[in-house]
Amino acid sequence: MQRNIDWEKLKQHYQTIAAIEMSDLFRQDPKRFDTFSIEAPEIFLDYSKNRITHETLALLLKWAESRSLDQAIDALFSGKILNITEQREALHTALRNHQQNSFLVHNQNIMPAIRRTLAQMRQFVDQIHNHQWLGATQKPITDCVNVGIGGSDLGPRMATFALQPYSRQKVKCHFVSNLDGAQLSETLQPLNPETTLFIVASKTFTTSETLTNARSARKWLLDALQDSNAMARHFIAVSANIPEAKAFGIPEENIFEFWDWVGGRYSLWSAIGLPIALSIGMDRFEALLEGAQAMDRHFQTTAFEKNMPVQMGLLNIWYRNFYEIQTHAIIPYAHHLQFFPSYLQQLFMESNGKTCCVDGVRTDIQTGEIIWGGVGTDGQHAYHQWLHQGTQWVPVDFILPIEAHHDLESHHPLLFANCLAQSQVLLQGKTEQEAYEELLQKDTTSKQAKELAKHKVMEGNRPSNTLLIKKLTPSALGALIALYEHVVFVQGALWNINSFDQWGVELGKTRAKAIVNRLHPANFEEEPPLDSSTAGLMQRFTEHTKNS
Ligand code: F6P
Repeated sequence: MQRNIDWEKLKQHYQTIAAIEMSDLFRQDPKRFDTFSIEAPEIFLDYSKNRITHETLALLLKWAESRSLDQAIDALFSGKILNITEQREALHTALRNHQQNSFLVHNQNIMPAIRRTLAQMRQFVDQIHNHQWLGATQKPITDCVNVGIGGSDLGPRMATFALQPYSRQKVKCHFVSNLDGAQLSETLQPLNPETTLFIVASKTFTTSETLTNARSARKWLLDALQDSNAMARHFIAVSANIPEAKAFGIPEENIFEFWDWVGGRYSLWSAIGLPIALSIGMDRFEALLEGAQAMDRHFQTTAFEKNMPVQMGLLNIWYRNFYEIQTHAIIPYAHHLQFFPSYLQQLFMESNGKTCCVDGVRTDIQTGEIIWGGVGTDGQHAYHQWLHQGTQWVPVDFILPIEAHHDLESHHPLLFANCLAQSQVLLQGKTEQEAYEELLQKDTTSKQAKELAKHKVMEGNRPSNTLLIKKLTPSALGALIALYEHVVFVQGALWNINSFDQWGVELGKTRAKAIVNRLHPANFEEEPPLDSSTAGLMQRFTEHTKNS
């Protein structure tokens, strides 16, 4: 149903430009950089190194208009129920627009609750920082361990690390997400229970990984302190399920609420962001919200031609649906954005990895791309070889701060140059003739040069975006995250899928429960019979654990 007449026009246009060389487009239009770049709050986007012409963009925009993208954006900001399978709004944008007086959800104004939680966070962060909040043995809190997974881990983990230069250095934040007990035990090993605070972050408070880790953490604490009242000084919960958090033993006054209308992977703006606030302080946390809000305004009010999330979303669709490219690399040239690619992995892949359209029909076009990547320059010595000479090309987003957070003078210009060199090489590549001539300059014989030149060919014509950020401040990070949230939204809305549910995760959870139960020898033969692969693997596990 996404294939209307405008789609057909795009298909025809694709046939005419599929083989186009970007280098030719640059030669033909000296103003290509000016034309294909956008200035949005905190971020400058150069998208000139893409396989597009003016006509491509005009046709993509026409298709987006025919698919009523403007109405979808209005629906997002006005709090329509976009998550239809769970009957929920997707109101993460309201969390960063906390100055507005009123916003009604089911006839209830949600703004007072948002402001109340922000005030509760501020009071708590100040108390921890000023040592008014002490552990059960009257010692100040020095370490905080966030216990959560998925959206209750990736966002706060990524942002806390990204904003390390803004840390108030009062509390060290640790993150435990994995069910593999190695992570929790190694995290706890150097910590002192008397000075450690746990944040159990779980929207549902039913997630097995989080609860298993939280129970082990509770045991570690209570065994060490031998004081049943210690929970009140060492355990905090952030959840939409207050009864379960209380049943776990966390006093109500230690529970920070968030709401059904905030999706897990969109929740770092809520009290799920508590580790970020504990690290950088509440003023800077609010600057993060402000940066995101500025991007929201840009997305909501800017004409589609100069609308950064819209243009980036359309480019992604162009590559996914017309060139049929399956993956997209995210490569920040910023040590502090180390966790950004894995954060975006959940954002894109849990949101848009869907086959069923909103109307219940199987989609007839490809959706969600695979997101991968890592920081430059490390990647240059790992997977960039594949990017330059692999048989398949993929679009890349380079993210590049102009200003550094350190004063090691020689580093930053070199880092900046490396990033630009990568996008330039992806664009221009190297012909066999160029390689041959270069080799001749290096005293290679003509025969050797001819043979070796073949191996040095880089096809080039490989697209990339470059996102320049002046400096990775809290507000710049807020804008960057919000930008990608909206890119995901644009793609999901145009593909007519629900970007806000995640049913694909559920079946595995149920199966894990059934399998753990049947690992017990007494239950092994239970019905239904197991496939021979699962049964064989389980048998090897039980035999090994029986003998060890
Ligand atoms: O991975 C599925 C998921 O539901 C995510 O969407 C969510 O972020 C994560 O699990 C954690 O859920 P919770 O915060 O409820 O523990």
